Amino acid sequence: MKTRIEKSIDAAMDAAQKSPDRSAPPQLKSALTYAVKPGGARIRPTILLSVAMACGDDAPAMADAAAASLELIHCASLVHDDMPCFDDADFRRGKPTVHKAFSEELALLTGDSLIVLAFQTLTRAAAVDAVRAIKLLEILTRATGSPDGICAGQAWEGEPMIDIDAYHRAKTGALFIAATCMGAAAAGHEPEDWVEMGARIGQAFQIADDLADVLQTEETLGKPVGQDEVHGRPNAVTERGVEGAIKHLEDALESAITSIPSCPGEGALCELVRYTAEKLTPVTPTARVAIRA
Ligand code: IPE
Ligand code: IPE
Ligand code: MG
Ligand code: MG
Repeated sequence: MKTRIEKSIDAAMDAAQKSPDRSAPPQLKSALTYAVKPGGARIRPTILLSVAMACGDDAPAMADAAAASLELIHCASLVHDDMPCFDDADFRRGKPTVHKAFSEELALLTGDSLIVLAFQTLTRAAAVDAVRAIKLLEILTRATGSPDGICAGQAWEGEPMIDIDAYHRAKTGALFIAATCMGAAAAGHEPEDWVEMGARIGQAFQIADDLADVLQTEETLGKPVGQDEVHGRPNAVTERGVEGAIKHLEDALESAITSIPSCPGEGALCELVRYTAEKLTPVTPTARVAIRA
C-alpha cells in the first residue's frame, strides 16, 4: 500500500515539475518536493485506497489518481497552515517548515501549486473514466473550499464566535470524508454512503490531534505542541479531560466501524479502523497513569 501511494504521488508530482520542453523554476521545484516528500503518516490516501479495494478496485488508475490528489491537497494545507499569517510554525514532519527552509513567497506558491496539481491529477484521470473523474473532482473541491472544506475550516479560526462542529468538520473532517467517498467513487460505488464513516474517523483524528497537542513533545510529534492553548482554540482535552477525550475518540471509531456500508471488503475495513485506533490513541496505559499523577 505504501509503495502504491508513493508511486502515485511521484507520478502526479512529475507533471508539475517538468514537461517535455521546459522544467519548473528550480526553487519552486525543490520546495514542492520538500513539502511532499518524505510524507507524514499518509493516513488519508491509506483510507482512500482501503475503501477502493473494499469496493473491488476495478479501476486502479482512478484510485491512484484520487489518492495522490487527496494527499497533495493535505500537503498544501499544511504548507499554508504553517505560514506566519496562520500558525507561524517553524517545524513540520520533523524539519523546518517550507517558509523557513525557502521563503514565505515560495511557501505560498508551493501550496498554490500543490492545490492546482491535485485537481490537474484528477482532470488527467478523466482519460480513464470521465464520469468517475468528475465525481472525484466534485468531492475534492467540496472538501477543499467553503463552506464544507479546509478553506472554511481555517476561516473559522478568525471568527469571534466559533461553531465548533462546523469548524472541526471543515478543518479536519472534510479530508477524511473525502478519503472514504473518493475511495468508493474511484471504484464505481455510491460515495454518499461513505460520508458517515469518513466523518467519524475525522472526528476521532481531531480528538487524537488535540490529545497529542497536550500530551506529546515537539521531538516525538515533529511539529510544535501546545498550539491550541497558544492560539486560544478549542481542544478536546480542555473540554473533557484526558480520559474523557480518549473515551470520545474510542466511541468515534466504534461509530466509524458500525457505519461501514455493506461491501465485499467490509471485514478488512473493520481491521483498518481498529489499526487506525491503535495508531491514534496517543498514550499507553502507563502514560495515562503518569499524566493523572
Ligand atoms: C495534521 O495531519 C493536520 C491535521 C489535520 C491535524 P496529519 O497528522 O495527518 O499530518 P501528516 O501528513 O502525518 O504529517
Ligand atoms: C492544520 O490544522 C490542518 C489544516 C486543515 C490546515 P492544525 O493547525 O490544527 O494542525 P497542525 O497542528 O498544524 O498539524
Ligand atoms: Mg492551524
Ligand atoms: Mg497548525
